[in-house]
Amino acid sequence: MQHRDRNRPEGLAAALALARSPQRPRPDTLAGPVVQAWPGRPCAIPEAGPAEQDLRALLHLSLHASDASGRLRPAPSAGALHPVDTELVLGTGCPLPPGRYGYDPLRHQVHRLGPVPADTPQGITAELSVTARRTASHYGHRARPLLLLDTGHAAAALFLAARALGTGTPELHLQGHAETPLALVRVPPHLPDHGPDGSPLSRPSARTPTPEELLARRSAPPPLPGTPDPETLRAVLTTATRAGGSDLRWCVAVGPPRPGLLELGTDGTTLRRLAAGETLPTLAAWAAGQAWIADAGAVLLARGCPEDADEPHIRRTHLRAGFAVQLAHVTARYHGAAARPVGSWQQADLGAALGAAPGQDWIVHGLALGTLHADEENTS
Ligand SMILES: Cc1cc2nc3c(=O)[nH]c(=O)nc-3n(C[C@H](O)[C@H](O)[C@H](O)COP(=O)(O)O)c2cc1C
Repeated sequence: MQHRDRNRPEGLAAALALARSPQRPRPDTLAGPVVQAWPGRPCAIPEAGPAEQDLRALLHLSLHASDASGRLRPAPSAGALHPVDTELVLGTGCPLPPGRYGYDPLRHQVHRLGPVPADTPQGITAELSVTARRTASHYGHRARPLLLLDTGHAAAALFLAARALGTGTPELHLQGHAETPLALVRVPPHLPDHGPDGSPLSRPSARTPTPEELLARRSAPPPLPGTPDPETLRAVLTTATRAGGSDLRWCVAVGPPRPGLLELGTDGTTLRRLAAGETLPTLAAWAAGQAWIADAGAVLLARGCPEDADEPHIRRTHLRAGFAVQLAHVTARYHGAAARPVGSWQQADLGAALGAAPGQDWIVHGLALGTLHADEENTS
């Protein structure tokens, strides 16, 4: 396996149990280089020809670090540590010769790593892996689930960029079968506008984000007061539920005046009350004691991943949760809400807190939501 991080503790189930425990991380260690040291000479990504896929735009809208610090990217990352490394498997129809390439998100360049088999599919396949040391440098034993969530966010950023560029429907591999690569996003060539008979072809009905929206996405700085209106909560829940796959359940914790947990009704469109009472202070305690969460307007929550889950299940649920929260974040922004992912959860057995069997229904990921303030609109 290439680029495997030797510092990563073995045993994902044990690592997740430790990350969920109240044990606190030790002081920070060195994060190492912010970008994978790909071998070989860097090369610029050429402009796409008329029949080629726009690789440069795809990466710019998803993974490219737009400032020299490497912090500001279309995809968020726990602690802005950006552990995800991307290898590109290019078939024909791309602005570079077919081959395997490593992507440098700081310089927006690629390094050719080698050839690809002759039967490589047309178009772009992004393989996502992680350098665990970057995230572990700050989060210590809490890093493992965050690495998976971050990879899900990066996969979603590629998915959304492909949608914004009007490619064919991106193919996702988030099944969690392997540790390297953790996820794969295949971007097929552009959809033709017209069928062979000249009639216009229909497009997927889900809303397609604009490139500007993707580049403007930021995690709103706390505090995030103000409960978004029911229409926004419904849209965010619907997006997350559709994108999150069958292993996760989704709800939204809301604050006063009617605090409690809301979920989508069985019709999949209306909101219904799952529980009544104050939950935000408990969520703040569970989320590494981040006090600002107690005053957030709402928090979208993904739950599942029981404590006896096997490794593929753990990977799959966390990859999917990251993917879905990224899509929910873009939906929240579209509806004018402020949002910030919340990925570090300890002792967050939401199922048990709701009276079900313990150990079955843990919080896997979250997205804090608030209403936008005038002053934030100028900085976000
Ligand atoms: C998986 C994941 C977990 C995160 N967890 C938290 C969190 O617990 N608290 C927080 O304030 N921000 C959290 N963030 C937001 C990051 O801090 C933020 O993405 C990063 O600082 C980069 O800023 P940006 O999203 O505006 O680009 C998380 C982001 C991701 C992707």
